[in-house]
Amino acid sequence: MKKALVVANWKSYVGSPKEGLALLKETDKTLPRGLSSKGVVCPPALLFSHLTSVYRGSRISFGTQDISLAPLGAHTGETTAALARACGATHTMVGHAERRATGEASLAVAAKVRLALDTRLTPIVCIGETERDHGAQYLSVIELMLVDSLAKIEPGELKKIVIAYEPVWAIGAPTAPDARVVREAVVYIKKILAQRFDKELGLKATVLYGGAVDAENARNLLVEGQASGFLVGRASTDPKNFAGIIR
Ligand code: PGA
Repeated sequence: MKKALVVANWKSYVGSPKEGLALLKETDKTLPRGLSSKGVVCPPALLFSHLTSVYRGSRISFGTQDISLAPLGAHTGETTAALARACGATHTMVGHAERRATGEASLAVAAKVRLALDTRLTPIVCIGETERDHGAQYLSVIELMLVDSLAKIEPGELKKIVIAYEPVWAIGAPTAPDARVVREAVVYIKKILAQRFDKELGLKATVLYGGAVDAENARNLLVEGQASGFLVGRASTDPKNFAGIIR
């Protein structure tokens, strides 16, 4: 079985370098030995190079929470993919719901996916419907977001991409949805990838689940939900909870 991938999205929860460093050290220390999962920490951009330059461990990889569409050059205020990579990023999230809520469209997400691949960063492409409806329109929403966000990849590049299914209604919610709900979406996403891109790679794609994941529900969401791992927000800023998810 492929190792599960667990991504920690620290969002903007961390308020100082000291706090970030303490959280990273505690996370590293608490992670179980002989991992059956791979951990990627995505700290806020301002803390990124500080944390990667002091980290001496080998169990945690780093990703950025977003990258700019701008290349190196005269672009004030941007975080370029090239700099992210040079500062030690192996992954980058793109199209998180909280970015899309500021107006980022799938077209821009597709360009960021392309840029990430060209910079040798693994894009973690976030998609998910805002709400559920009885007529199952949400499935078309998921399909459109998925296909549009991957509009600039070659089918063979599916294996270099991670999809994170994060229904917006579950992000920040008190409890995660039933594993059945997660399984339906994971299976559906793989089916679309198989139909639209590459049959074999689509069915084997890495599809994470995100939204109210914690140490309590992780096992069930992984096994019953058939997710390839998780994108974790709140619980990733609590090392014990995060270690429990990884375990
Ligand atoms: P949550 O956030 O785990 O706090 O629900 C998940 C996410 O937004 O990635």
